[in-house]
Amino acid sequence: MLAPLPDPPEPKRGVRVSARGVERAFRGVGGAVLGGLDLDLAAGSFVALLGPSGCGKSTLLRVIAGLDSPDAGSVTLDSTSGAARVAFVFQDAHLLPWRDVLSNAALPLELTGTGAAERRAAARDALDAVGLGDATHKMPHELSGGMRMRVSLARALVTRPNLLLLDEPFAALDELTRQRLDDQLRALWAELGLTVLFVTHSVDEAAYLAERAIVFSARPARIVADRTLALPRARTSALRAEPAFGAEARALREALEQGGG
Ligand SMILES: Nc1ncnc2c1ncn2[C@@H]1O[C@H](COP(=O)(O)OP(=O)(O)OP(=O)(O)O)[C@@H](O)[C@H]1O
Ligand SMILES: [Mg+2]
Repeated sequence: MLAPLPDPPEPKRGVRVSARGVERAFRGVGGAVLGGLDLDLAAGSFVALLGPSGCGKSTLLRVIAGLDSPDAGSVTLDSTSGAARVAFVFQDAHLLPWRDVLSNAALPLELTGTGAAERRAAARDALDAVGLGDATHKMPHELSGGMRMRVSLARALVTRPNLLLLDEPFAALDELTRQRLDDQLRALWAELGLTVLFVTHSVDEAAYLAERAIVFSARPARIVADRTLALPRARTSALRAEPAFGAEARALREALEQGGG
């Protein structure tokens, strides 16, 4: 487990995200899912996204990742350090059951034609970063849910992304495992300086992880709250008992209720 870093360095690698007038509708879904959404994410920021089920959070992530195209509007990714490299972490780890941990983590580099030695070294680094350096030869069926999710995270990190999109990645895990992975993710963010957009249904997880939390209304998604969280940068589990933390979580919950969650 990585120790949370006290003072995150200046963001170096993060991508700035600008969504302008993004619209997306689907056949069979009444009305627009995204109805002209504007959103800016600062380079190197950690932003949590909350909103009722079906409001369009995953749709927005897919549009930002370029996995789906908006019907109107645009998304711009600006990187100060070379091209934007986007990685996506889904709720399910989606590991290939016949491959060991190392070759699962190396998969994205295999798809881009990176040489065997280089991709194994990169996968080893990424697995070290998520605390799985000693599990490289295990098979997916030998792993706990939390370990599988860490392999999924390592597989996302192996391409050295400067924008990391996570769609309810820890939702299926028990509370303690989830809190450990929250700590690990925040430490990685602090160390790597990448931009993170994290979708969750948990106001506590949003408040614990992010510097800024955005709450969407029911469909069509509009922003009902956009809060810069008034919490210290160094987060430890003791923070969860602090009144300031409770106040932020409460404000997010109220915004969710107000938005139809
Ligand atoms: N490819 C698609 N084809 C048709 N409808 C879709 C498609 N993708 C999403 N939708 C619909 O768009 C709406 C928004 O879906 P989306 O997955 O973005 O919601 P969400 O906010 O991520 O919800 P949840 O919190 O349950 O994950 C839903 O009604 C969904 O059924
Ligand atoms: Mg979703």
